Amino acid sequence: MKVDCSRPIGVFDSGLGGLTVARELNAALPWERIVYLGDTARVPYGTRSAGTVIRYARGCARFLAKSEIKALVVACNTVSAVAMDHLRAELDLPVLGVIGPGARAAVCASRTGRIGVLATLGTVASGAYPREVAGISSRCEVFQRAAPLLVSLAEEGWLDGEVPRLAARRYLEPLVASGVDVVLLGCTHFPLLRACIEEVLAELAGGTVRVVDSAQATAQHVAVFLAERGLAAAESQGGLHVCVTDLPGTFEATAAAFLGAKPDSFEEVDL
Ligand code: DGL
Repeated sequence: MKVDCSRPIGVFDSGLGGLTVARELNAALPWERIVYLGDTARVPYGTRSAGTVIRYARGCARFLAKSEIKALVVACNTVSAVAMDHLRAELDLPVLGVIGPGARAAVCASRTGRIGVLATLGTVASGAYPREVAGISSRCEVFQRAAPLLVSLAEEGWLDGEVPRLAARRYLEPLVASGVDVVLLGCTHFPLLRACIEEVLAELAGGTVRVVDSAQATAQHVAVFLAERGLAAAESQGGLHVCVTDLPGTFEATAAAFLGAKPDSFEEVDL
């Protein structure tokens, strides 16, 4: 069946952090319409068991599938790490995650083959990034670090100064000690702390470690995927509609921080 390419792209995340992926999608594909779902009532996913994350992810995916989307982008690294097979089995749609594009970008960026990954506890425990990297290149080795405090700092909008620098330092020191030359931001929230992470890396390793963002890599991958499948919008649709499962008072400020702009529209929904 030929899918109507004027349909929107569905994007979901555990909360608002996935708007960093929506922002990159918007930059790479400004003519595409995006329907975003943030499961703000149940965030964070990164500290939960894989079974719970899969259950939550299924609910989010079913909700977006009802919005007549042409493809589903799983912005959440934790969901991408544990639930992709389940979502692909269940949905009659292309389902794209962030782990593959992020891993490929890290492999391409690394000269030494020693790759550091900063992610949530769930993503680290799943072993998804090391597995993906091993499937791309046998010369690469992955060193992972769960960095849950960075998620809270990004949520809080606490992006510079002593506290984020100390937290970033604590997480990055062991990666630098392992001799990594690339640090992959394997979590939706970490692009907000990119400047702080780069500063700390420059202090620890004198500019020898590059930062790679899985959100940017994913947006490029989605652009190529849509073009190759004939699914790219033929004329400009544009627009980002955000659905959330809980609408806190801080919604507009937090969304703007992750997105870099205001969404065109938003609503609270029940899954
Ligand atoms: N969206 C999650 C991720 O990228 C981070 C926040 C959470 O723990 O839910 O892994």
